[in-house]
Amino acid sequence: MSIFSKHMELANSPDKNHRQKSDLLMGNSFIRELLDGTEQGDFLGLDLGGTNFRVVRVSFKDGQAETTTQYYTLLESVLCGPVAGVFDFIAESLADFVDRYSLKNSRKNIPLGFTFSFPSSQVSINQSVILHWTKTLRCPDGIGDDPVALLEAAIARKAKDLPVDIVAVMSDTVSTLMAGNYLDRNCRIGLILGTGCNAAFVEHISEIDKWTGDDKDPQHVIVNVELGSFGDSGCLDEFRTEYERELDKYSNHPASFTFEKSCAGMYLGEFVRLVLTRLIREGVLFGGKGEKLTEGRWKFTTSHVTSIESDQGNSTTKTMEVLEKFDLATTATAKDIAIVREVVEVSSRRGAFWIATLMAVLVNHVALPEVTIAIDGSLFEKHPKYHDSMMEILSKFCSKSKVKLILAKDGSGQGGAFGAVSALRQAARDLR
Ligand code: GLC
Repeated sequence: MSIFSKHMELANSPDKNHRQKSDLLMGNSFIRELLDGTEQGDFLGLDLGGTNFRVVRVSFKDGQAETTTQYYTLLESVLCGPVAGVFDFIAESLADFVDRYSLKNSRKNIPLGFTFSFPSSQVSINQSVILHWTKTLRCPDGIGDDPVALLEAAIARKAKDLPVDIVAVMSDTVSTLMAGNYLDRNCRIGLILGTGCNAAFVEHISEIDKWTGDDKDPQHVIVNVELGSFGDSGCLDEFRTEYERELDKYSNHPASFTFEKSCAGMYLGEFVRLVLTRLIREGVLFGGKGEKLTEGRWKFTTSHVTSIESDQGNSTTKTMEVLEKFDLATTATAKDIAIVREVVEVSSRRGAFWIATLMAVLVNHVALPEVTIAIDGSLFEKHPKYHDSMMEILSKFCSKSKVKLILAKDGSGQGGAFGAVSALRQAARDLR
C-alpha cells in the first residue's frame, strides 16, 4: 500500500523533469460530469478492449437508460496486423450496427463515446495519444497516433456517411465508473478485472498538483490510474515469484505491465499452469506425468481457474472436467485433485489480495463514508470467490469507509455512451 501511494504522489507532480518517475500515468480523462438523471435521447458507445469489440446504443428517457449491445470478434490476424486493419474492422462493425438497428435515418448525427482500453495520454475529451499496446494487441504501428483520428479515417475509408459524431474517447475504467455511478451514486471508483486490470477514480481538482484545466464547477475529474504498469520500475521485485518472471518472458509484451501480469484474467491461468508444471516436474503431482499441461503454454486459461473454483465442498466435477481437457482425469488421485484445487485457490486469492490492496489505497484516498467500486470484466464476474477475497483486504485496511463492490456488467461499453453525454454537457458548459 505504501509503495503504491508513493507512486500516486510521484505521478501527481507537475515537474516532469526532476521528479523520480512514477510507474503510474494518473491521467486526466477530461470527464468531469457524471449522469444526473435528466438525460434524454440516443447515444452510442464503442468498446475496444482486446479480443471482443462491442457496439452499444443507449436510449435515455428521463434519465433511464435502455441499452442494446452487439458483440463482434476480432481475429488474431487483425490483432497483430497494421493498426489501420483494426480500425477498419471497428468502422465496419459500427456500420453493421447502424444498419441492423436502422439508425441511418436519424434526423441528426448520434453522439458517440469511444472506450479505448489501451494506455493513452489524453489531450482533450475527444483526442488522445496511444502510448503502448498491451494485452492481445500487437500492431507494429499506431503508437503516437490518436485513436479518434484513426477511427475517423477508417470510417471515411470503409463506411462513409455514418450518422455519428465521435465526441469522447476514454479508458474502460472511466466508462465503468460512469456506468457504476448510474447504478449507485456512491460509486467513486471504476475497476476492470478482465483480460487486463486497471482503475479510475473521481478526484477533486484541488488535489491534482499537475492540473492545468479550468477551475469551474464541477470541481472534480475522473483520473485514469493505469495501474497495470505498477512495478515496471522494479519496485515490486521482492514480491514477484519465479512464475511471474517466466510468464512475463513469454508474454506478448515482455518487461512491461508487471502488476497486471500478477492478477489479470489474461495471465492467472498461465500462472497456475506454471506452478502445476513445477510440481509435476518435481514428481509431486500426477506421478510426474502431464505433458499436455507442462508443454501447453497459455493453454490453461483463467476460465479453467474459475471453473475449478466453482466446485463446492467435496464436489470435484468441474475440476475433473478441466483435468479431462489435459488428459489427466483418468490418472488423477484424490491427492492430485486436492493439490490442483489448492494451487488454484491460493493463486486466485493472491491475485485478489494484490488488486484489493491497491483499491484500499484508492478508497482511503477518496475518503468518503461510503465508497462503491464498480467492476467490469469476466474475471470478477465469473470467479465465485473473488468478491469475498477482495473484501477481506478492504475491510481490514479501509476502516473509515463502508466499501461495496458491485458488478457493472458491460459497463465499459454502456459507459462509453455515458461519456458522450458528459462531453456534450461539458461543451454546453464551456459556451456559458
Ligand atoms: C490494460 C490497459 C488499460 C486498460 C486495462 C483494462 O491494462 O493498458 O488501459 O484499462 O488493460 O482493460
